[in-house]
Amino acid sequence: MTDPKTPHGPSTLRSRAWFDNPDNIDMTSLYLERYLNFGLSLEELRSGKPIIGIAQTGSDLSPCNRHHLVLAERIREGIREAGGIAIEFPVHPIQETGKRPTAGLDRNLAYLGLVEALYGYPLDGVVLTTGCDKTTPALLMAAATVNIPAIALSVGPMLNGWHKGERTGSGTIVWKGRQMLAAGELDDEGFIKLVASSAPSTGYCNTMGTATTMNSLAEALGMMLPGSAAIPAPYRDRQECAYHTGKRIVDMVREDLKPSDILTIEAFHNAIVVNSAIGGSTNAPIHLAALARHVGVDLPLDDWQRLGHKVPLLVNLQPAGEYLGEDYYRAGGVPAVVSQLIGQGLIHEGAMTVNGKTMGENCRGVEIEDEKVIRPFAQPLKEEAGFLVLSGNLFDAAIMKTSVISEEFRSRYLSNPNDPEAFEGPCVVFDGPEDYHHRIDDPAVGITPETLLFMRGAGPIGYPGAAEVVNMRPPAYLITEGVSALPCVGDGRQSGTSGSPSILNASPEAAAMGGLALLETGDRVRIDLRAGTVNVLVSDEELAARRAALEAKGGYPYPASQTPWQEIQRALVGQMNTGAILEGAEKYQRIAQT
Ligand code: FES
Ligand code: MG
Repeated sequence: MTDPKTPHGPSTLRSRAWFDNPDNIDMTSLYLERYLNFGLSLEELRSGKPIIGIAQTGSDLSPCNRHHLVLAERIREGIREAGGIAIEFPVHPIQETGKRPTAGLDRNLAYLGLVEALYGYPLDGVVLTTGCDKTTPALLMAAATVNIPAIALSVGPMLNGWHKGERTGSGTIVWKGRQMLAAGELDDEGFIKLVASSAPSTGYCNTMGTATTMNSLAEALGMMLPGSAAIPAPYRDRQECAYHTGKRIVDMVREDLKPSDILTIEAFHNAIVVNSAIGGSTNAPIHLAALARHVGVDLPLDDWQRLGHKVPLLVNLQPAGEYLGEDYYRAGGVPAVVSQLIGQGLIHEGAMTVNGKTMGENCRGVEIEDEKVIRPFAQPLKEEAGFLVLSGNLFDAAIMKTSVISEEFRSRYLSNPNDPEAFEGPCVVFDGPEDYHHRIDDPAVGITPETLLFMRGAGPIGYPGAAEVVNMRPPAYLITEGVSALPCVGDGRQSGTSGSPSILNASPEAAAMGGLALLETGDRVRIDLRAGTVNVLVSDEELAARRAALEAKGGYPYPASQTPWQEIQRALVGQMNTGAILEGAEKYQRIAQT
């Protein structure tokens, strides 16, 4: 196959191996004959124009990304304007809230499918249509593995939701509404209406959930045009951005600017710092670890605390703050945040981006347009807003988002003057989300304000793909007494739209016989945030005996697979602290060049 490493004129384009290969005229004729089928002319296909894929994630099954079906028209016009040929094709759908058992199962599936499409077809570059939570990492991961020129286009958030004069944000309003429902302040119909108010238009979640986080980080990594991540889906600017994205990818092919030129260690470190400043999702460490491994960058989980924990929260978006997506865009979006961080020397300004300029050239000096929404560095919403990385005898690694610790939570658990960052209590353990839903409100379970709630069986193997269930609410009888949150720990994930300061993504999970598998309801657990530890106060001998007994029974039990992919992924997937990727896939890197 043609080697596109050399800076090229049209004759070295990758697609020429299909459409203009004098050494194999038989195959060339076959390829040409069939691609003429949808209306391209011989002249176009043999013109030496770059052929640009549009990896389409929008569909009726993926409402968050559905607007990409409209935007694709403008992408095509941009590609054509710049002298390229557009070929649009579907990506396996991933819709965060509708996919059973969890959309987490599908990230690696969409990744695999897109790797095959990018590698196996005559594409010189690709536009990645990102949006809903897992679509962004799945597409970036595939582009990293194949390593042809790639540019991401966010579909953009929904418009702000409103209810009785207050902003209602995606997901976040669900967590609030279910507490009001449990407290009897809302009936079922009122609850549904309240939640529906948060979704007034096309686009993805308008809170700083995983979708806004991952698109902001795609921009911070340099994979998206500067200033584009935050543009709301229905705004005209979004259409304009689609056009410019289409134009730009053609030049990226001509410049041979590839993911491996952009996704450097500096880019990942920038993304970690930006994630703290935006109050980004707890799913980000999983997805960035996955992306880093597929592009061959070493990004240990500890980097999140080392580089990110001390960074303050600047973006005042729900769930950590008050505002929503439209406000974020109007306040300046990612460049305004990066500019503040550049001012403190926290950004590698030399990191390359898709527009051919560096992060510093794109963002230095960009002003904040509304300081209520994006705070200047000197007046942050919260200090030390990044993640803590915790470990102990229950797991090797887990993270905690400290920016969402409420005053109520702090005064209940973190205010002992002799031990200010530590607390302990008896635990109640749930085995998977169904067990939690069945038993949480049962007074016989004995949950008190001192209880620590544990969720296990919810990791990449146990609940295939890892469920977003660690943010458990207290029982209704405690909520009515004013206890709005209990400490939660688990081997599952948590929605990025949740404001719970849970300890999550615990690795290894119970299903892989991590320490959580050995925990019993009633055990006392001590959490020490300063030391970064979570330990069950049970002797090593007792834990060893429990382990031996559980192993004798065949290990921690989890439900059988329901589909072929669940079984395949369970056999191949790694743990969340290292990205939960298909372990055998990591060795395939930069494969378009092989
Ligand atoms: Fe798709 Fe939130 S559910 S972006
Ligand atoms: Mg989610």
